[in-house]
Amino acid sequence: MSVRRLAADAIQPPSFAFTPDNQAWARMVIARYPEGRQASAVIPLLWRAQEQHDYWLPKAAIEHVAQMLAMPYIRVLEVATFYTMFNLEPVGRFFVQLCGTTPCRLRGAEDIVKVCESRIGPQRHVSADGNFSWLEVECLGSCCNAPMVQINNDYYEDLTPESFNKLLDDLAAGRPVKKGPQSARHTSEPEGAVKTLQDPSLYDGSVVGAWKKRFAEEEAKAKEASAKAAAEKAAADKAAAAQAAETPKPGKPAGDTAGLKAADTPAARVAEGKPPTAPAVAAAAGDASKSESASKPASKQADSVRGDRPSSYVATPGKSAAEAAAPVSDEHKPALLSAPEAGKADDLELIWGVGPKLAQMLNGMGIYHFAQIAAWTELNLRWVDQNLGAFRGRAVRDKWIEQAAKLATGWRPESKIGDKPTAKD
Ligand code: FES
Repeated sequence: MSVRRLAADAIQPPSFAFTPDNQAWARMVIARYPEGRQASAVIPLLWRAQEQHDYWLPKAAIEHVAQMLAMPYIRVLEVATFYTMFNLEPVGRFFVQLCGTTPCRLRGAEDIVKVCESRIGPQRHVSADGNFSWLEVECLGSCCNAPMVQINNDYYEDLTPESFNKLLDDLAAGRPVKKGPQSARHTSEPEGAVKTLQDPSLYDGSVVGAWKKRFAEEEAKAKEASAKAAAEKAAADKAAAAQAAETPKPGKPAGDTAGLKAADTPAARVAEGKPPTAPAVAAAAGDASKSESASKPASKQADSVRGDRPSSYVATPGKSAAEAAAPVSDEHKPALLSAPEAGKADDLELIWGVGPKLAQMLNGMGIYHFAQIAAWTELNLRWVDQNLGAFRGRAVRDKWIEQAAKLATGWRPESKIGDKPTAKD
């Protein structure tokens, strides 16, 4: 980094003031900012002061700007010394800022430095004729055209020692010079013959037109294929429906579980140790249970959605509602226990639809074991069911006798395999 100091006192002017035009311009710039934010105008004012003072900032100009903006002098000095765009010492009529960053270095910036040193002298010194001074700076953003320099406000790129020497000669002599690349390049296109994008049609618009046409054709083809596929599917669906209508159905219509053979009923399949099957049956029979569950809030379903319910236990309405709801007398009360046998109760929560609350209620009634439930009669089941309070209806609906009989054999729902098969502590 360059050292940023004010110029020697000997060359500092005793005072500085904006010209009337610049003064008016400065007031206009300051007025852009809200009251109390005038300091925001410090950079434009310093820049205008530099332009007015032969492109360098004397101490008096910095003080003048500080005064105009009601800023402490040190704050304005900090700005002026921080940004290398502000020259703190006199510069030549042509001020050369030479990029010394890596891309320019790799492309020969050091040779350009040598030209500067030999023709102008050390950095930050004005040549004897007053025409030139130079300074090495960081990347000026024209790396594609390295090496390069900025002279006053213009870029000169693709420099060689020869072209740079000639440029300095022309500037000193007042001859017109070419800005930008000093090579045959127009801007930053590839040097020499263009090696890419040589197809002329890329530039005349026809390629874009051809691409659009191809895109439209592909889009039309895709639409056509989609329509054809949809038509074929509709035809296939129609044929399948016609075939299904002609095929005779066994037993009663689908959805009526009573019409299935006894061997295919869910209960029979579970009793045989087969996996739950007959999806049509399960779906049909489960509809009632599903709709019931769906209508309940999640919190209310804690006792009805636990575990993996075997499809064979899906409730199937076997009796009329009136018959099922008919009260059962206490003579059908099942045998109840005062305590679990051997001090251990079965995990009644393994019965689908039984949660902690319901299991606790059953234990309170004297029901602790799967075998106990499996031995119930239908009327025992209904007696228990009608005494389940808020859970009334669960025992019959979920076929507890059937479930308990299976669980009593040691069978467990899939999610419970690995659990102890019988009693819980
Ligand atoms: S490195 Fe020189 S312009 Fe970027």
